[in-house]
Amino acid sequence: MTARILEGKVFAQAFREDAQKKAAALQEKYGVQPGLAVIIVGSNPASQVYVRNKHKSCEALGIYSEVIEMPETTTKDELIAKIDALNADVKIHGILVQLPLPEQIAAHESEILERIRPEKDVDGFHPVNVGRLVTGEPGLVPCTPFGCLRMLELAGIPIDGQRAVIIGRSNIVGKPMLHLLLGKNATVTICHSHTKDLPAITREADILVAAVGRPKFVTADMVKPGATVIDVGINRIAPKKLVGDVDFESVKEVAGAITPVPGGVGLLTVAMLMENVVRAAEMQLQA
Ligand code: GUN
Repeated sequence: MTARILEGKVFAQAFREDAQKKAAALQEKYGVQPGLAVIIVGSNPASQVYVRNKHKSCEALGIYSEVIEMPETTTKDELIAKIDALNADVKIHGILVQLPLPEQIAAHESEILERIRPEKDVDGFHPVNVGRLVTGEPGLVPCTPFGCLRMLELAGIPIDGQRAVIIGRSNIVGKPMLHLLLGKNATVTICHSHTKDLPAITREADILVAAVGRPKFVTADMVKPGATVIDVGINRIAPKKLVGDVDFESVKEVAGAITPVPGGVGLLTVAMLMENVVRAAEMQLQA
């Protein structure tokens, strides 16, 4: 049996269409265009590409977009002053500070991200939004795990009552994924570098999420036949060669469904950011 391939572009397109419709509805109902501000500090080439993609995506969907480029030498206070101005700007419903930050301010990352008003925190990184996710209150959820959840739902993969195993406990993917799946009544286990007998645990998973950052870490013997395998890893193993955390070629022969890398959940992140900007605008307008 070869697994069903869950193509990121199909789901990303569905999420974009949804965000576009919701943006148009806000324009119609309130005369307001949802707006995103992305702050990029310094000139990290990868970050520049990501920020450009976010800007283009906004333009394509009818979302107002501002890209604020600040020099490499920006101080913490200068960045915080910019965030304060955007917090008060009624055109802006979502604020994102592109990471990583340059060295001299990276140590202040938490303080900087916590300065963003939780209602405008479209990354879902603010402790208030983390708390809302844990308690099950409405809030903004980190884009990548939120995209994974929505993809499972749209693909018709059952979650309620299923065993889900997540490998990796990052604040950006592993931990939010745990709470999202728990919120949909899965029985969730989170594994990490200190977990004993990892394959015995992953083999119990109906839904296996790999977010470890180690190329081809999940092999066929770690997967239950028929399981859904979501690969969140993006590992560059050669200048032009990206692979996931899952050994796609062997695992696709065992899994029931699998996301490829590239072309999998990586494509969902910007689409979900658009969704988060629209949700942020809805929440601010309905408040
Ligand atoms: N850099 C790489 N991924 C992300 C992300 O999801 N959010 C932010 N703010 N920066 C990033």
